[in-house]
Amino acid sequence: MIMNILYLIAAICFIFSLKGLSSPETAYYGNVCGIVGMFLAGCAAYLAVDVPFGTSDLWFSLVAIVIGGGVGITIAKSVSMTNLPQMVAGFHSLVGLAAVLVTFATYFAPEIFNIASVDGTIGKCSLLEMGIGAAIGAITFSGSVVAFLKLDGVYGGHNVSSAVNAFLASSVVSLITWFVISESIYALTLFTLFAFMLGFTLIAPVGGADMPVIVSMLNSYSGWATAGIGFTLQNDLLIIIGALVGASGAILSYVMCRGMNRSLCNVMFVSGANRTSKTYNVVSKSSNSYSFRAGAPEDAAFILKNAKSVIIVPGYGMATSQAQHSLKEFGDILKKNGTSVRYAIHPVAGRMPGHMNVLLAEAGIPYEDVFELDEINRDFASCDVAYVVGANDITNPATKNDPSSSIYGMPVLEVEKAKIVLFLKRSIGCGYAGVDNELFYSQNTMMLLGDAKKTTESIIKAL
Ligand code: TAP
Repeated sequence: MIMNILYLIAAICFIFSLKGLSSPETAYYGNVCGIVGMFLAGCAAYLAVDVPFGTSDLWFSLVAIVIGGGVGITIAKSVSMTNLPQMVAGFHSLVGLAAVLVTFATYFAPEIFNIASVDGTIGKCSLLEMGIGAAIGAITFSGSVVAFLKLDGVYGGHNVSSAVNAFLASSVVSLITWFVISESIYALTLFTLFAFMLGFTLIAPVGGADMPVIVSMLNSYSGWATAGIGFTLQNDLLIIIGALVGASGAILSYVMCRGMNRSLCNVMFVSGANRTSKTYNVVSKSSNSYSFRAGAPEDAAFILKNAKSVIIVPGYGMATSQAQHSLKEFGDILKKNGTSVRYAIHPVAGRMPGHMNVLLAEAGIPYEDVFELDEINRDFASCDVAYVVGANDITNPATKNDPSSSIYGMPVLEVEKAKIVLFLKRSIGCGYAGVDNELFYSQNTMMLLGDAKKTTESIIKAL
């Protein structure tokens, strides 16, 4: 009875946690709800298996929790903002591995999990759930390890023929069928090994910068694996948590793909190099009569002093240069001068969902100054200066003008409609999509070449 009440409260905590995490304003409380839910779920798990106090099993698992928690806290505290996607991929791999290990534990001791029949065999339905849980868990594990290595720049990737993926996928399905029919340990071991390989071959060809979508998709897989195991163990909380994680990961992957105007299949099965794209050679373009106007921080300061309204557009370069604190100071100075200052956030700015929101919130930039693409896009036309900080693709007019471009159709911040566009980046090189940005050569653009943080600091000085 107490256990069921704890499970129910924990499930409610997780729902509130997800709700809280959907906005930077409430993210802290979302995290707290998640921690409370996890604590209650842990207590309920102990009640479920009825481990008496003082037994070695209890102490063994408590020591494991303390060590695991300690390692988790240390990693989370030391990881830099730009390395967050790697951390998430690394943690997901453990969820996948846990699903595989739980399946094997259940196979060897089904009576502990109440799924053994009188003759000691496991029911067909439970075998199917175990098979699906272990296969998804194994794919999640190896896929997340590959994602981690790619995001960390340790592994560049390989092209894998779709025939290999088809062979591995059909082998996994056939072996699971054999497992359900025969309850054979060979079938279980073999399909788990094939699923590990499939995780590798599916993720290895994906372009490095598409990894955030893949990480979110693997997050979704780990949720479904958890839900599968929940059915096997007849544990309602695992089913609820698994469904929450599975569904939210799937929705997030969809939102990211929509933000890039691509389908999940395109992200997964078409590597960056194979995408239909018209990537310009910047050097040849600039030498072919394309020229850009480079300015100094003092020029920018002069323009900004006379501006009535400024919209700041942060991108990946703001994250790498850690310019958010300088931006806050910059915005405060402009506001004191009577200028209206707002921030425009593109749904896929940076390299992970909410990347810019988190950094701006960290610098103490008020939420009411931060606007989503749909809310602010039409205001560029009436704004004096668009101040683009380390952003590129999210401002590229090729998304509207060039049907042959790989980013054609992606929603875009229409910064070119501002009277003046100030572009802070180190060169006129491309962004993530590898597509040249014609805006650099536009009449109303001034390029401020250099590190975003240093340039903003120089402008602050000049102001
Ligand atoms: P990008 O198009 O990648 O442009 C970032 C720009 O920042 C680069 O052109 C780079 O130019 C500049 N930069 C790098 N370091 C800098 C520094 N220290 N100081 C100043 N500038 C610096 O980024 P974006 O505009 O934010 O667009 C995001 C891209 O990532 C989109 O194409 C999106 O589809 C993709 N993506 C996003 C996500 C999510 S969920 N956010 C997920 C997957 C893919 P220089 O080298 O010349 O300095």
